[in-house]
Amino acid sequence: MLEFSSAQAAADKADTPCVVVGVFDQPLAGSAALLDQASGGTLTKLRDAGDLNCKIGGTLVLHGLSGVRAARVLLVGLGAKSDFDGLGFQRACYEAGKALKNLPIESATVFLPECEVRGRDAAWRVRTCALALDHASFRYAATVKPNGKRAQLKGVELAGADEKALEQARAIAKGVEFARELGCLPPNLCTPEYLAERAKGIADAHADVTLDVLERDRMRELGMGALLAVAQGSVNPPRLIVLQYRGGKEAKPFALVGKGVTFDTGGMNLKPTGSMEEMKYDMCGAAGVLGAFLAVVEMKLPINLVCVVPAVENMPDGGSYRPSDVLTTLSGLTVEVLNTDAEGRLILCDALAYAKRFEPQAMVDAATLTGACVIALGKHASGLFSADDKLANELLDAGNAALDRAWRLPLWDDYRNQLESAFADIANIGGKSAGAITAACFLSRFAEGTPWAHLDVAGTAWDEGRKGYATGRPVPLLAQWLIGKAGS
Ligand code: BES
Ligand code: MN
Ligand code: ZN
Repeated sequence: MLEFSSAQAAADKADTPCVVVGVFDQPLAGSAALLDQASGGTLTKLRDAGDLNCKIGGTLVLHGLSGVRAARVLLVGLGAKSDFDGLGFQRACYEAGKALKNLPIESATVFLPECEVRGRDAAWRVRTCALALDHASFRYAATVKPNGKRAQLKGVELAGADEKALEQARAIAKGVEFARELGCLPPNLCTPEYLAERAKGIADAHADVTLDVLERDRMRELGMGALLAVAQGSVNPPRLIVLQYRGGKEAKPFALVGKGVTFDTGGMNLKPTGSMEEMKYDMCGAAGVLGAFLAVVEMKLPINLVCVVPAVENMPDGGSYRPSDVLTTLSGLTVEVLNTDAEGRLILCDALAYAKRFEPQAMVDAATLTGACVIALGKHASGLFSADDKLANELLDAGNAALDRAWRLPLWDDYRNQLESAFADIANIGGKSAGAITAACFLSRFAEGTPWAHLDVAGTAWDEGRKGYATGRPVPLLAQWLIGKAGS
């Protein structure tokens, strides 16, 4: 994670390996105008000559600009001022971060937060800039060696930053990084037991956090028949991770629940070749709620928060659960398994029922639950499902504020009959149509009585392709939502 601090000097005087300024495609303003003046009009000349691309996110590195103290100047295009909005700002900051990552420098001073953004205040600009820079300069290092001895970006100074905005940025960046690292880890290392160890790391580092980890024997005593069934084909035993943070005196807690399938082969309904390897990311819901929990704890928000993570591996084996098994869940409802690849909802139903025991004022789960959600919304929006309009709107607003957006899909009772079963109270799949919705409908049966929302992050939790990383979503959305809750 980058270290963030506040910039003191002006752009031409800053003693830093690199100053970063934004340029609109109109008369130069702010720090860009200052550097232009200091350098005898060099920026204007470059722009007129066409060297400087003012399109949003375009970058140009200048060395030894006369009249400027820093050895390098990174110019970042901001496009047309009239079109400039929050997403454009984030994009420009992200591209700046990528350019900085490729320079042999350890620090930089970034003036992008000076740029006015429609509908957003200065604290938002600082936080968004910090998080975008951090995101762009992420390096996965757990199982690969960093190449070469080149200096690596370690910290940035941000113009116009006050300490409160920086504190929030640090906490959220820490949560995002936690989620990204866990998501990227291969499934031979990131097992249910390992997830529990990482949760212990959070508990050990914070006095106001307690941890309870349930193993098979306690799950059996409680009657978590669905969670146990999914786990029974794997040599890696399941864990139910329960973290509690007390920052809010007597108030009822909020609850976060995250799908922690450390690898999803599909089980006996084995997935085909060519898509299975991505299923190491099937614990990104878990990583997301743990990351959000960490962010909340680091911010010391005045709320109580419970985080429940069912962690399992879904494997085919002589001991696996099978299609047509009937399971008795913690809630007492029975489930007919019609597809062992619809395992996420089975572990979540027991986790939701367990989380309800903490009498949360609201409960949100995050899960890489369905391929159908990816078909519906692609990788830009997480699917949001809730019968509670107030909670749904809070989460949508939080997603818009944090630029970690969700889109609401219906959770009407009309879909319920798709889950009917002749052999149990409910079946675990709902047929071909509306797969993301019927999955959410399934979960809703186990959240009854508690204000609850479900985030399907199957499309948003990682970037596709061989070099795609976990994104850390929905940490920003959840952290933003709880910041709002703490303030009201
Ligand atoms: N983890 C998958 C969902 C998934 C698939 C996420 C692809 C991201 C990309 C989940 O456990 C699953 O296998 N769901 C099935 C459900 C089906 C059997 C009803 C799916 O989406 O195909
Ligand atoms: Mn599956
Ligand atoms: Zn899965």
